[in-house]
Amino acid sequence: MSRGHGSPGRVESSRETGDRITVVAPSNIAFVKYWGARDLEAAVPMNRSISMTLRRCVSRCTLELRCPSVPDEIYLADEAGALKPAPDAFAVPVLRHLEQLRRRAGGGVSFRVGARNSFPSSVGLASSASGFAALTLAAARALELEEDPGALSGLARLSGSGSAARSVFGGYVEWPGGEGDDMEAPARRLATSDHWDLRDVIAVVGTTPKEVSSREGHRRASTSPHYAARLEAIPRRLASVRAAVRARDLEALGPVLEEEAIELHLVAMSSRPPVFYWSPATLEVVDAVRGMREEGVGAYFTMDAGPNVHVLCLPGDEPEVASRLAGLAPVRRVIRDGVGEGPSVDAEHLL
Ligand code: PMV
Repeated sequence: MSRGHGSPGRVESSRETGDRITVVAPSNIAFVKYWGARDLEAAVPMNRSISMTLRRCVSRCTLELRCPSVPDEIYLADEAGALKPAPDAFAVPVLRHLEQLRRRAGGGVSFRVGARNSFPSSVGLASSASGFAALTLAAARALELEEDPGALSGLARLSGSGSAARSVFGGYVEWPGGEGDDMEAPARRLATSDHWDLRDVIAVVGTTPKEVSSREGHRRASTSPHYAARLEAIPRRLASVRAAVRARDLEALGPVLEEEAIELHLVAMSSRPPVFYWSPATLEVVDAVRGMREEGVGAYFTMDAGPNVHVLCLPGDEPEVASRLAGLAPVRRVIRDGVGEGPSVDAEHLL
């Protein structure tokens, strides 16, 4: 983890009541998706996944250390940036994760937690990945738990958000969990961000929180008649994505990205009961991306568990892709993101 813009000061060497630790952690976009779990609570996945860590879509998390006799308090920034007591849907998993980290450290302190996302939450833009990565890294520092990135990735996964295990690293990341002898293997870096400057232009078409959580989607995945075929296809896709990243070959990566995105949604829609994460607006964007490609623009789509569309392209095509997406009627906002360096400790505290 890099040091970010400021020094965390005395927090590093001591744990005093009133000390604050802030970590900024990025979201990530999965090229090969984690979908379906062997253990949902601890996010032990059914399959390996590969992602690219983003730069602009980030969560900032400040922990203020308090004496152990008071309960934890969780605050979440609203759209205007004002911290408000977090709703249960946010606070309960955060409290649960803090509790298990504290248990590992043998007790210690209580926390006031402040969290803010730079992008819309719970709409399939992996705010749980960035949020739980930031919380885990800040708490691990506060509790003087782990410093090794692999161990931190393992702790982030315990939040129940598997994709958080990947957001601990910058660049291109593979999470091999769920296989063979080491079912709980942490994520590891495939390539650093400076290996390949890939851009992700995100077409935001929906900002209403999704009705079915990705956790519930994971739970239902195995009820889809297409799920077994998906698991069988994954090793080939992983090999193609690894090779494409290594060779910086977007034309090789793109078709696999799209296959993966379509299949994730196919499995979701054919689960019992079915889950519809995409919307007519999603398909409109997908159509536009295919149209761009016919005109020679190197752009490829992918979606996570939500209606919003990530469009991957090279820096030279980014302005064109962004302006075309912004011109589509259902697109409310375009976020121009790209591969990022990973989490950092920061001195701008929320509390
Ligand atoms: O990390 P979770 O439990 O929110 O699940 C992530 C699921 C996807 O975003 C759809 C795929 C992925 O690998 O990020």
